[in-house]
Amino acid sequence: MTTHARTKLGTYVLGDALTGIPRRIKTDSVKLTFTSPPGIHQTPFFKERDTKGYLIWLNQVLPVLTEVTKPSGWIVLSQANAKQHGEVITTDVTFTEGLRALGWTLKEERILVRNGTDAVNLYVNTWQHFLAFTQTGKVPIRAKQGRWVRDVWVYKHEQRHNQPIWPQSFVQMVISALTKKGDLVLDPFAGVGPVLAGAYHTERRYLGFEIDRKYWNPKLQFSSGLL
Ligand SMILES: C[S@@+](CC[C@H](N)C(=O)[O-])C[C@H]1O[C@@H](n2cnc3c(N)ncnc32)[C@H](O)[C@@H]1O
Repeated sequence: MTTHARTKLGTYVLGDALTGIPRRIKTDSVKLTFTSPPGIHQTPFFKERDTKGYLIWLNQVLPVLTEVTKPSGWIVLSQANAKQHGEVITTDVTFTEGLRALGWTLKEERILVRNGTDAVNLYVNTWQHFLAFTQTGKVPIRAKQGRWVRDVWVYKHEQRHNQPIWPQSFVQMVISALTKKGDLVLDPFAGVGPVLAGAYHTERRYLGFEIDRKYWNPKLQFSSGLL
């Protein structure tokens, strides 16, 4: 039995995104899939030192996301390339090539600088790739008039349970740029839920998944805004 928390705009599920998404969302219903996929250290592949298995798993995630995201919508992935067991794992390449094979194009690329909260032994860099994929979508003019035009976005990250989390200023900027009120936003790997909170505060519907009870936060409470 899965556990979930509901607000008037959305649902936050404690469970596995890969099995949960097809059960809960119809094909082509999501306007924006926005997530930071788990690094290898947040998956069982880490203990087994199974980098190949981790990359195969990431490639299984991608078609689950393309199935439910509208062709005119967006899949936005932002993650730091992590160094594990002496190897830099270039997931930005995995995402770009995997999604290209599924017919999705990398349309926008930014560098997201995470100001100061990362453990330096865990990540290669204190920045993340911000990669925005679509099939037929166009970045709206309103986004191009704001912070969207910058190549590098610098944000001071907040910290929860030893995980850096995206601040609301960043999350809401992306959601406002790529969706309209009432659109459905999906975060399959929601952590403590900053994307879900951002969707809520900008009046978008949302669906989130988190597999680890330690991070799943049914009250969706953040220092940057309480629901
Ligand atoms: C990089 S973190 C997300 C961080 C989030 N953006 C935040 O700011 O809190 C990735 C999350 O995915 C979760 N996760 C790993 N495998 C999962 C799965 N199969 N289904 C759902 N969540 C999963 C991890 O527990 C972790 O919290």
